[in-house]
Amino acid sequence: MNTVVQGPKFIVAKGEGVWLWDDSGDRYLDGTASLWYCNVGHGRREIADAVYRQMTQLEAYTVYGDFANVPALQLSERLAAHAPVADPRIILTCGGGESIETAAKLARRYFAAQGRPERVHLISRTGGYHGLHGIGTGIIGMDRFRDGFGPLVEDASVVPHDSAAALEAEILRVGPEKVAAFFAEPVIGAGGVYPPTPEYFASVAEICRRHGVLFIVDSVICGFARMGNWFGIERFGVCPDMIVFAKGVSSGYLPLGGVVAAGAIAEPFWDRPGNPFHHGTTYAGHPACSAAAMANLDILEREDLFTVALEVETYLDAAMRTLEDHPLVREVRSGTGVMAAVELTEEALVDRGIRTADVFAEARARGVILRAVPRALLVSPPLVITWEQIEHLVATLRAALDAVAAR
Ligand SMILES: Cc1ncc(COP(=O)(O)O)c(C=O)c1O
Repeated sequence: MNTVVQGPKFIVAKGEGVWLWDDSGDRYLDGTASLWYCNVGHGRREIADAVYRQMTQLEAYTVYGDFANVPALQLSERLAAHAPVADPRIILTCGGGESIETAAKLARRYFAAQGRPERVHLISRTGGYHGLHGIGTGIIGMDRFRDGFGPLVEDASVVPHDSAAALEAEILRVGPEKVAAFFAEPVIGAGGVYPPTPEYFASVAEICRRHGVLFIVDSVICGFARMGNWFGIERFGVCPDMIVFAKGVSSGYLPLGGVVAAGAIAEPFWDRPGNPFHHGTTYAGHPACSAAAMANLDILEREDLFTVALEVETYLDAAMRTLEDHPLVREVRSGTGVMAAVELTEEALVDRGIRTADVFAEARARGVILRAVPRALLVSPPLVITWEQIEHLVATLRAALDAVAAR
């Protein structure tokens, strides 16, 4: 914040496909789809038209109690039809963090309704990012987001992201009868793009099932074709108890997120009188946001961006790996979904004091937007990116690395 406050703002004025323009008219390749969300690319008029039509019909109305609206119902049915969850039910929210709160509260409330109110412990993974609301901050796997806020969610712990055995050991340490849920992203995104080993998800799903722990997949980044399917987790052949989604569901044209919950989790609230799940927000089930999501999903399906994404994934992987020979680069992580990380060496980061923000700035000055996290540069372009644009992105990233190395 202190750095930003001293300089001019980077004002984004216009977007079209993978391109952005600033307020001086300079053009940039959006190498991050904004914050991992603009899957269909910028400037899709049909989404704006769908929102306009909905807003002139009914701009907004609550979905509390028995209130409903057509776009929210249509969207819920469409998502349920594709969700790899048993007897799926949908809760709509305004974003990812709000959905994490909803899923965590639902997990605890479900166990309370089963007469097991002591099952409250939440387990997440190192590098896992689950938004910055209250519970999300409490379960995040990156210390820098937790510090300075005083006491956070008690009864939460973090396990190494790549070890199913560590999850089981933690469940046994806490006591399975006290653990409510385990949270995992299909590929860790904001924490630095860490794909799982091929067997990881089958193992953790089995461990959760065996100990009666709810398995909650956070597909906020991985959903809606970024991994070639609807929710990312299909890739690993497992069926979670809940899925949290946001971002690509509407490509960010309007804010929307939600939770898919297995019917068995909804059952105590729907089937028993006097036992509601007391939770909800003002804008849940917003009809204009739902209309934006429906138009966005139309594009994903019509242009088969699910298949396109798998091709982009392969091409992006090959292109990014050409950076492995760069002297500043320790590791390239890519090849599972349309996302990649270029991690800098210890020598660059520590001995030479090079900041990833420097590489980010050099790339942006050359017309490519990347994302800088403490040790790596991240890439997650819109799924409509072409091969030439991928080449341009990677060549610019190399030029930015060269420029920083030459300082
Ligand atoms: C995996 C994951 N979960 C949750 C969130 C939080 O979403 P939001 O920023 O919409 O609250 C994010 C945001 O980047 C995310 O990447």
